[in-house]
Amino acid sequence: MRSLLRRLAFGIVGLALTGSLARVRAGVPPLSYLTGHGARATPVVALTWGVLIISVAVTVIIAVLLAAALWRRRSKVWQPGERLDVSHPHGAMWWVWVGVAISTLVLLGTCVWTMLVLAQIASPAKKAPFIVEITGRQWWWEVHYASDAAHTFSTANEIHIPTGVPVAFELIGGDVIHSFWIPQLGGKTDTIPGQTNEMWLEAHKPGTYYGQCTEYCGVQHAHMKMLLIAQAPADFARWWADQIRLASPPNTAQARAGLAAFTVHCGSCHSVRGTDAAGVFGPDLSHLMTRQTIAAGTLPNSTGYLSGWIADPQAMKPGNLMPQLELTGPELADIRAYLQTLK
Ligand code: CUA
Repeated sequence: MRSLLRRLAFGIVGLALTGSLARVRAGVPPLSYLTGHGARATPVVALTWGVLIISVAVTVIIAVLLAAALWRRRSKVWQPGERLDVSHPHGAMWWVWVGVAISTLVLLGTCVWTMLVLAQIASPAKKAPFIVEITGRQWWWEVHYASDAAHTFSTANEIHIPTGVPVAFELIGGDVIHSFWIPQLGGKTDTIPGQTNEMWLEAHKPGTYYGQCTEYCGVQHAHMKMLLIAQAPADFARWWADQIRLASPPNTAQARAGLAAFTVHCGSCHSVRGTDAAGVFGPDLSHLMTRQTIAAGTLPNSTGYLSGWIADPQAMKPGNLMPQLELTGPELADIRAYLQTLK
């Protein structure tokens, strides 16, 4: 019976372990902080796993010792009213001191490791070549590239960085407190109105890393996502050169009509650089079609969703600051056609 139970227990543990290993192999969830990429995340993830393993080991050792003690004294049947003598043989205190010493060493080791990791990630090993200003807004991320005054541009929700170099971020709170978090590249930093927080990230290899606002900021908090796209330096340079251009002028009659309607209906909130639309309340749309998503990572940037968003943004993301525009059918089609030229 006992060996059957033992086999059953091993079977269950084995199944659980192979199951989680299979899940790990199948792919990492996009917001997992248990895998890290890049100079800032790697030491933190190692520390996370280290502390987790130490904690589990301590719990298991204590549980086994407790079970062994109970097992050894199982023959003793306590009668109600009976006094239980606690024996105090010579050398009993030795176990207490050994236990205290081991716990102290483990805690001290974890503390020193934590301090070393904090020191390591406090600043990048080499100077970041440029700064990206991120402003958290209800409910999207304004992304402003500001290497020098003559070369700046803004985009939204999709942050591009080159691989292999640290990138400095200045985090600004545009209205309420938000929190900037790209879990596979680094920890969370709040964007707080009235103060600028600094942090840095580095990606070792090209890829798309998912991010999410992690400070409750209103009804659409969960729909305040972002993508961080790490590119090989040459690809990033191409992207940068493309983004810094003014928007191309429309070259069809419908797109020209769209630009006129856009400037009237949308231009006081949105900017398209190179046109009269110069609003600052909503995302800069100069190169909208280079983005994969709209509405802060909530919807794919496709003709259908873009049309739906222009026609009725409140139905797609209730509470967001874009009003219902009451456009006519042809105006809607013209504006969408114009926006789709913004590559
Ligand atoms: Cu922004 Cu939550």
